[in-house]
Amino acid sequence: MTICYFTASGNCLYVAGRIGGTLLSIPQLMRQEDIIIEDDAVGVVCPCYNAEMPMMVRDFMRKARIKTNYFFFIYTYGAGFGEAYAHAKLAAEEAGLTLSYVNAIQMVDNFLPYFDMQEQIDTLPKKNVERQIETVCADIACRKTVNVRITAITREQMAMYHKRLADVWLKKDTALSYTVNDDCIRCGICARVCPANNITVNEDGVLFSDHCEVCYACLHNCPQHAIHLPKEAGTKQFRNEHVTLADIVKSNE
Ligand SMILES: Cc1cc2nc3c(=O)[nH]c(=O)nc-3n(C[C@H](O)[C@H](O)[C@H](O)COP(=O)(O)O)c2cc1C
Repeated sequence: MTICYFTASGNCLYVAGRIGGTLLSIPQLMRQEDIIIEDDAVGVVCPCYNAEMPMMVRDFMRKARIKTNYFFFIYTYGAGFGEAYAHAKLAAEEAGLTLSYVNAIQMVDNFLPYFDMQEQIDTLPKKNVERQIETVCADIACRKTVNVRITAITREQMAMYHKRLADVWLKKDTALSYTVNDDCIRCGICARVCPANNITVNEDGVLFSDHCEVCYACLHNCPQHAIHLPKEAGTKQFRNEHVTLADIVKSNE
């Protein structure tokens, strides 16, 4: 089994590791000229962004040539995933694949504009993450299949939601609004955890470019907590408790 994953604050890396098999980082795969993956089972594990998949994961689905008899898609999310299953099914179909199985695991919501990370961490036990992961692992082990029905209404909702929110939250120039305070020691970790190579650190400081994935890896993983959004709902950062900073660097640099 091969799992292709995208992670910013570690939830997806943890889930991918728990499902098992060969783990491949999508940001690193995307730097290859050709992506060819062949296995008896192939899965994508990624966060739900704006009730869709991250932009880079969508690009990955377009670029990769995947050959498998069992293709699955697992989202991690915090509050709600809307029509994300439909997005997975359509992305698979566009890639010439059948989506055999899809599921979503509710974890900490790392969306800093809306959520206080301390509150998210405090209420995490209620989400019973381990039970959700066990269900997904058991389903995949017995090659369970699910059928996602896409109606005309589903498509309408997807288009409406995308238009309403994608232009607000998922904008490639988002990082240009981030600020870096005086606690920054120019350690360069932000550049190393950025899956999009959107950050440069030099004698002038931390410089953001205009191809941000809006994943918040830089904000959540800065050892000095020096990078900030114009508006945050709380004062804490988040990284999955089973994942280290070195794991995120290894996944994304
Ligand atoms: C830009 C952005 C948009 C998000 N949108 C959603 C969403 O629509 N629904 C949701 O439940 N969680 C949303 N989240 C939360 C993440 O999906 C969730 O925290 C995920 O587990 C993070 O995975 P990671 O730790 O592997 O990066 C969003 C997070 C970000 C950064």
